[in-house]
Amino acid sequence: MRKNIVAGNWKMNKTLQEGVELAKGLNEALAASKPNCDVIICTPYIHLASVTPLVDAAKIGVGAENCADKESGAYTGEISAAMVASTGAKYVILGHSERRAYYGENNAILTEKVKLALANGLTPIFCIGEVLEQREANKQNEVVLDQLQAVYELSAEDFSKCILAYEPVWAIGTGKTASAAQAQEIHAYIRSTIVDKYDAKVAENTSILYGGSCKPTNAKELFANPDVDGGLIGGAALKVADFKGIIDAFNA
Ligand code: PGA
Repeated sequence: MRKNIVAGNWKMNKTLQEGVELAKGLNEALAASKPNCDVIICTPYIHLASVTPLVDAAKIGVGAENCADKESGAYTGEISAAMVASTGAKYVILGHSERRAYYGENNAILTEKVKLALANGLTPIFCIGEVLEQREANKQNEVVLDQLQAVYELSAEDFSKCILAYEPVWAIGTGKTASAAQAQEIHAYIRSTIVDKYDAKVAENTSILYGGSCKPTNAKELFANPDVDGGLIGGAALKVADFKGIIDAFNA
């Protein structure tokens, strides 16, 4: 059975001290009862080694927001998958639309990153999603299928270790969300492509998260869809109450 997951993406927010406070606050908020879903926080690299030992690993997984497409060596400023794993982090977001748009990450680069993440025991949270013009031209299926090729190079065994996140770029940080029906439609399509590439069992076991202006007020409706297995949360992951409100969408 696939897992329900709520994952936070802090992006380039929070100093180390602020990030430690946020992680502590979330840990406290989840102390009383076990959430009804897996909870992950993906933080800036420099927070990882401090945040990982602070949170109850049985309730909160920690991840990075990126890793290098090279194993090690003369790549000034880069952080390898092995370095991420050495902090105790277990996850890594790869292929976020901001990385694709601002840092030129394409399928070839992302395949390398995914393979290195897996080789170092990290679970990739692999992001896909169309921009507004592509949605307006009704090209979203084509776009996500093309982006998925970066992970469809993997064996079924390796692919099964990945989490997918569908994030329509027009909904990220804009306050606009895909409607529950739009999310369900494309998540079902994504799952059908997993059946085509691998098989029904692999597809059935893959968690596909929705991302893009997910809030406590709309999380329940989005997550109620049969093919929406949780969320990747940006802005609302920066406040304990908001993030907890989204986690609680799985409790009601
Ligand atoms: P948002 O970001 O929740 O602020 O829209 C989501 C994301 O980019 O992962």
